[in-house]
Amino acid sequence: EKSWILMATARSPTNIAVIKYWGKRDEELILPVNDSISVTLDPDHLSATTTVAVSPSFEQDRMWLNGKEISLSGGRYQNCLREIRKRARDVEDEKKGIRIQKDDWNNLHVHIASYNNFPTAAGLASSAAGFACLVFALAKLMNVKEEYGELSSIARQGSGSACRSIYGGFVKWAMGNNPDGSDSIAIQLAEETHWNDLFIVIAVVSSKQKETSSTSGMRESVQTSALLKYRAETVVPSRVLKIEEAIRDHDFASFARITCADSNQFHAICLDTTPPIFYMNDTSHRIISLVERWNQSEGTLQVAYTFDAGPNAVMIAPNRQAAALLLQRLLFYFPPPQDTDLTSYILGDKSILQ
Ligand code: PMV
Repeated sequence: EKSWILMATARSPTNIAVIKYWGKRDEELILPVNDSISVTLDPDHLSATTTVAVSPSFEQDRMWLNGKEISLSGGRYQNCLREIRKRARDVEDEKKGIRIQKDDWNNLHVHIASYNNFPTAAGLASSAAGFACLVFALAKLMNVKEEYGELSSIARQGSGSACRSIYGGFVKWAMGNNPDGSDSIAIQLAEETHWNDLFIVIAVVSSKQKETSSTSGMRESVQTSALLKYRAETVVPSRVLKIEEAIRDHDFASFARITCADSNQFHAICLDTTPPIFYMNDTSHRIISLVERWNQSEGTLQVAYTFDAGPNAVMIAPNRQAAALLLQRLLFYFPPPQDTDLTSYILGDKSILQ
């Protein structure tokens, strides 16, 4: 039989949560204890690009991440592969003379190559972009026709936060009620263009890998933090409503206030966990102080900050001017080494330097 190869490529950006997901009620299906809300970044900066290929000559499923082979034996990859294969359809490529029938997908193996367009060493979350992209690329290859909501629930089974990267713009991951997870899906709150002025600045404080993975951190918090229960039941539901309103109305002050408060509460839960988890370091704390002082001195909120399971600061400015001022201040308080070429020091949109 003539051998052949068929490929598909997808690209997905990472997302930054402004209402954090922290804690699972079901670890197997990855079902959260609260809703979360995020903003998906622009794909030109922090994104994953994944190509998947299928060929009868492939003997097993394999994957390469940034050119290095990684194991696919983990449950998360297997969940995504299984769920997409279940929904695979017939594929025909007349030019190449290829016909794959629905059931053939169970006997065909895939090779997956994924790249991040940002330095992996920067310690920036990449699993959100990675799993969303894997699901998109596999769905494209296998002619899966499911709606984005359903694709998000498959990406969720790779990495919880990945379900939010299925959409651009502002996205809510609704925790859902069903025990099978079928309603724990991402919903787009606003399109990419809705709040175009917002500008995101990420300060890479440390490129070290985090010491406590989000999976074990969440597990420990769910088991030991009383604050987590209070947050999930009492705080998040009203915050979600308020920040949805702020996003709808472009109300930056309200958006920023809730974003900072939610990041701080997430890290408070980490401290409330036994043994305590420290994701932020001294530099992170200094950045918070800097932004808080600036916000107070101006009377209106200039910048929001938020930190995930690591020390790197993600700051959101209402417009380019505020972002440029923020950068000026950051460079003043955290001066780069002498003779540093600032254009190479800054990831992403360099127009901010002008
Ligand atoms: O999807 P995970 O397991 O990488 O968890 C991500 C958790 C946070 O980044 C800390 C918060 C969030 O909502 O993204």
